[in-house]
Amino acid sequence: MTIPFGRQARALFSLDPQGTFLNHGSFGAVPIPVQQAQQRWQAAMERQPDLFFRRLMKPAIRAAAEVLGPVVNVNGDDIAFVENATSAINAVLHSLTFRPGDEILITSTTYNTVRLAVVEVCKRSGATPVVVDLPLPLHDHQSVVARFAAKLSRQTRLAIFDLIVSPTAHILPVREMTKLCKQQGAHVLIDAAHGPGQVPLDIQSLGADWVTGNLHKWLFCPRGTAFFWAGPQVRDLTAPLAVSHWFEDGFPRSFDYTGTRDATAWLCVPDALSFIAEFGLEAMMAHNRTLVRDGIAKFAQLGARPTAEPGYFAAMLSMQLPTIGPASPEAAAFLLHEMWDQHRVQIAASVVEGALLLRLSGQIYCSLDDFARAAEALDALGWPGRP
Ligand SMILES: Cc1ncc(COP(=O)(O)O)c(C=O)c1O
Repeated sequence: MTIPFGRQARALFSLDPQGTFLNHGSFGAVPIPVQQAQQRWQAAMERQPDLFFRRLMKPAIRAAAEVLGPVVNVNGDDIAFVENATSAINAVLHSLTFRPGDEILITSTTYNTVRLAVVEVCKRSGATPVVVDLPLPLHDHQSVVARFAAKLSRQTRLAIFDLIVSPTAHILPVREMTKLCKQQGAHVLIDAAHGPGQVPLDIQSLGADWVTGNLHKWLFCPRGTAFFWAGPQVRDLTAPLAVSHWFEDGFPRSFDYTGTRDATAWLCVPDALSFIAEFGLEAMMAHNRTLVRDGIAKFAQLGARPTAEPGYFAAMLSMQLPTIGPASPEAAAFLLHEMWDQHRVQIAASVVEGALLLRLSGQIYCSLDDFARAAEALDALGWPGRP
């Protein structure tokens, strides 16, 4: 089967035919063949629960990890599955012991759930969260590295940073950032929630201690699927949040069973990869990158300005909408809701440092017409503070 990109590919998804979907980044979209694969696993689970949980599930999880390994350039046996990036990040935070005087480094654009988890761990342990400010617009990677270096210290126990920042969609120079941290003796956790399927991932080469990435965003897996890799130096200390039967097997098997739950989403990783193999991961990434770059040209007449040069984006791109004065979070909520309610266009919007940001995703089911429709809808709708 050859899958054509654009409008025709919509038939492979369950997306509302009336809608224009330019926000794949937030929650993904599961192709129908992958939904069907999960339904088959669920049917097997319901037909004979004991057989599924006691005998089928464990080898099937490990087989799925084996299939994923080469896609991110690690051994399948070094990969655990978790429900989402949030779970992996919390597992790291709780696997380390922090003391007063320790510092945990994050950035001003760290994803909110991650920031909250760091603040909570610091409250309990007496450690200090240290925030590296990453102002808009992004000019170059050197300035990111320099800002980061300025906040690193001998007290930094752990640094957490994104491969791709959520609200701005900027790709960060994670290899250089990791190198700096390692020179200071700090642990590194790379939050690649948006990585797999959006950019090529070579985990081995990054030099981090832990890397996690959602598979339910850009790799088309059912929701509740993320990978979690731990380097050999931290494997023994890396523990799941919920201790259960397979805990003593150590990483990654300790994560395979953390109490009874529906793990069928993970078992569909091979199906999602087979779906992508129909057109190729490289072709998909190239299509999405080109589409979103071409697509944002439709917004130029509204005064929207990309928050970085195109080279700093992959399949998502953020633009700043002009406003009189700083924008409020309500302005972003207005756009997010009213674009759908009034025009059936789904976008992502947020406010960063008072700037109203529109984030658009390219995906195989999107076309340039979708971007044109979104720009028309935005023009017709307007936004709070529009000059
Ligand atoms: C950078 C980053 N980290 C973490 C997350 C959390 O992902 P999840 O809700 O799947 O755990 C996201 C979600 O978009 C994200 O963009």
